[in-house]
Amino acid sequence: MTTMMDRQTYPPPDAVAARPVGPVKDQHVVLVGGQEEPLLELASQFRALGVSPLLLADASEIKQHLRQHLSHRPASLVVVDVETVRNALELIRELTFLFRGLPVLAAACRGSVTDAREAIDVGAADYFLLPVDEEKLAGLWGSFGNQYFDPELGRGRRLITNDEQMRRILMQVRRVSQTNATVLIQGESGTGKELIARFLHQVSNRNKGPFIAINCAALPENLLESELFGHAKGAFTGAMVDHKGKFQQANGGTIFLDEISEMSLNLQAKLLRVLQEREVDPVGGRSPIALDVRVVASTNRELRQWVDHGKFREDLFYRLNVFPVHLPPLRDRPKDVLQLSEHFRVRFVAELGRNNIPFSNLSLTALQAYDWPGNIRELENVVHRALLMAEGREIQPEDLMIDIPIIASVRASAQGGSTAVQIALSEPNQPLLAGVDEEEKQRLHLPVGTTVREMEEFLIFRTLDEVNGNRTRAAELLGISIRTLRNKLNEYAAR
Ligand SMILES: Nc1ncnc2c1ncn2[C@@H]1O[C@H](COP(=O)(O)OP(=O)(O)OP(=O)(O)O)[C@@H](O)[C@H]1O
Ligand SMILES: [Mg+2]
Repeated sequence: MTTMMDRQTYPPPDAVAARPVGPVKDQHVVLVGGQEEPLLELASQFRALGVSPLLLADASEIKQHLRQHLSHRPASLVVVDVETVRNALELIRELTFLFRGLPVLAAACRGSVTDAREAIDVGAADYFLLPVDEEKLAGLWGSFGNQYFDPELGRGRRLITNDEQMRRILMQVRRVSQTNATVLIQGESGTGKELIARFLHQVSNRNKGPFIAINCAALPENLLESELFGHAKGAFTGAMVDHKGKFQQANGGTIFLDEISEMSLNLQAKLLRVLQEREVDPVGGRSPIALDVRVVASTNRELRQWVDHGKFREDLFYRLNVFPVHLPPLRDRPKDVLQLSEHFRVRFVAELGRNNIPFSNLSLTALQAYDWPGNIRELENVVHRALLMAEGREIQPEDLMIDIPIIASVRASAQGGSTAVQIALSEPNQPLLAGVDEEEKQRLHLPVGTTVREMEEFLIFRTLDEVNGNRTRAAELLGISIRTLRNKLNEYAAR
């Protein structure tokens, strides 16, 4: 049997080498489509940008490729030629669902613009026309190719999001990264403040320099001071050698002052001076040292309120708050919950070497119904634990060990209550609720390809229908609060 790996996918040999199984190169684009002129041309344009192209013919090849490389970087970017790939839109929908965070672009020759545009609706990050000029391609690569796939984000960590607000924030962060402006990142615990700080550093022109993080809550005042600003030998008992502070270590790069609100007022005054003078005075040192450092600070408190309560210097607040970033909590990023769950699942499957157990439909519903007070950090832990707990062929709500009423209520009703609501994934095009018996009517048959949002909407309306519009009862069955139900109905009405 010829496999994708030993098949020569694209002549000449130097164009795309047949690839051994194993980690793929970092700067790596996968082109899916027929081996025709426009795509071959695109491959060589990518090569000119220093990006290796791998040309795959169809859906099954790309899926196999991505699966084989799950634990590594499967691709920095995927381009699907919507003209030569069969069911290209379906493929894009599936890729963006299965491999969350993987940027997929649609390409088409002039003439198929509609298809390419439609690709956006099914999850493509963007589309472009072939042939494409170099500048445009470089721009696309810059925006999508490295965006979420940065090795330096830390140990294979990628920044994943599907939320419009977050995407806007990332664009702003990208823009500000090109300046030296100080950035203050605020957000609840676990919303990704540190990840954003690293992202900012990575996309900035300081990315060859160091990224130095220091947690201002972790050390007592005097230690923090010498950690930040350094000290000279003999500055105090125990100072046996000169110690370079974090500011100095970050020279040419970025310093990340985590949990800045916890810094004492005394140190805040010293920090302010450093920021104003752009130089540090190591404790006990003779002369100040000039600095070229971008400052990023973060806090999970409302820093403005701390200023009002006299716990944080107002002048320092303004110095830091040159460019404010507010990260929304996960409960306000509903699209991200499923995407991140899937991302963490895939990551932990690879890291733990576990079987590739999917989430059951019910556990997906549970993940969405929970309000994630600990945000992404909590979600990450829940998925990790669930993979360790899961014994069956799917991750069940119980494996998630999160406290939400929906599990009990849906389970109970699924076990034969008169208002049973079951979600069944069935063949596409099955008639919905037409000419079926009573019991059958109480099931939801959703064709593969239904989006989770559609599924949610459908489930809500069906449940309301079942309980004759009684919202209290529907919310109970759905395991959500009446308020959430009301908000969702308003949301649907507004669409
Ligand atoms: N958008 C994201 N995509 C992927 N992983 C994420 C994302 N946001 C956060 N994470 C992960 O969630 C965890 C928490 O993120 P991070 O440490 O950046 O949050 P934080 O706001 O600094 O949290 P804390 O306030 O608890 O310090 C990390 O493991 C991080 O890698
Ligand atoms: Mg943090």
